[in-house]
Amino acid sequence: MDKLVMKELIKKFGTPTFFFDEKILRDRIEYLRSRMPESVSLCYAVKANAFIIPYVAKLVERLEVCSPGEYDICKKYMISTSQMVISGVHKTKDYIQKIVTDDIGENGSCCAIYTIESLRHGMILEDVAREMGTTLQVLLRLSSGNQFGMDPIDIFEIAKYQIEKYPHLSVKGIQYFSGTQRRSMKKNAREIASVCEVMDRLRLDYGLKCEEFEYGTGFPVCYFQGEEFEEENFLKDFSEAFSLVASNYKVTLEIGRGIAASCGSYVTQVVDLKTVSKQNYAILDGGIHQLVYYGQTMAMRHPYYDLYSDEKQYSQTDEEIKNWNLCGSLCTTNDIVVKQLPIKRLKEGDFFVFHNTGAYSVTEGIALFLSRELPKVVLIKENGDAALVRDAVKTFTLNS
Ligand SMILES: Cc1ncc(COP(=O)(O)O)c(C=O)c1O
Repeated sequence: MDKLVMKELIKKFGTPTFFFDEKILRDRIEYLRSRMPESVSLCYAVKANAFIIPYVAKLVERLEVCSPGEYDICKKYMISTSQMVISGVHKTKDYIQKIVTDDIGENGSCCAIYTIESLRHGMILEDVAREMGTTLQVLLRLSSGNQFGMDPIDIFEIAKYQIEKYPHLSVKGIQYFSGTQRRSMKKNAREIASVCEVMDRLRLDYGLKCEEFEYGTGFPVCYFQGEEFEEENFLKDFSEAFSLVASNYKVTLEIGRGIAASCGSYVTQVVDLKTVSKQNYAILDGGIHQLVYYGQTMAMRHPYYDLYSDEKQYSQTDEEIKNWNLCGSLCTTNDIVVKQLPIKRLKEGDFFVFHNTGAYSVTEGIALFLSRELPKVVLIKENGDAALVRDAVKTFTLNS
């Protein structure tokens, strides 16, 4: 974003604040689409950042909704259930009933898609569908070796007894999530092949023809200076590895980080500077409860950032480069955002603008810590207008 525009926004909204830029988001989605086979659809994983839902929903085919909280937010934003994939390891009957009640049409049909992540999920979905006189569309989630999804044996079990035990479920295909920040194309290719094998077996051994493959790609994002990653080449290889699959199945790529990260900036102000035991500390009005970088190790890695300062304040004596530890306002020695960052000039009142913070920071930060206020969130429209979509919120209130 233009520096002058950002400075004006900081003046207007103060700090700490997340800024999410819709123009960058649109460009990012267009870029990803342009690098994928044409028939591939995109599904935005809401957990990455729920604030951009209304805008991103216009740009992608689907939204992956992973909890009742995310579902409620989507409903508040008037997102149609037909655009939702209801995912997640914890599905209750009440939750599914609520969605089906919202979703069911006058003719008794439903539009939402659900993932089945265990045999129990299968039973819950079947019970709700039967009791409410409808059929639910489902994707069987194949595990990538963790608590999410099922082993092939359970997937085949559902396929084997589809007609007897799950007559109210219509199996559309497989959902598979690789894990986040996946850079290994070899691993991706192996995974794609093993998912295809499962879909082949479903067809050949159980007569269940999968139409869809929904794939959580875990596209990587670079957060730190010096990281080496050739995204253009990576996406080219990915697209090639995927083109055959895309010609056999309706493919949807589930992406959170890869869509949302680049549109976000987190701005925090330097409120104090000091040297203690020969270490230089800059105290920020934000902190680790709000700013989370995947892959950060003991604050040693240096993220992409800009420093906004009032040039008039500086003199010749400020030219010396010093290493600064950037610390937040929490009452823990862990609250170090970055360690030993070499900076030439730093003054109280300067602003750090941390880049690529559009995904997860705003949803993963331990925001309740120390009863600090939640940061403000500002959406910047394509026409440049900036709207405050969440004001600073107190996380603790006394009932009197
Ligand atoms: C099922 C599912 N799909 C998609 C995603 C998005 O992953 P990423 O943000 O790495 O793209 C996640 C992240 O946890 C997930 O659990």
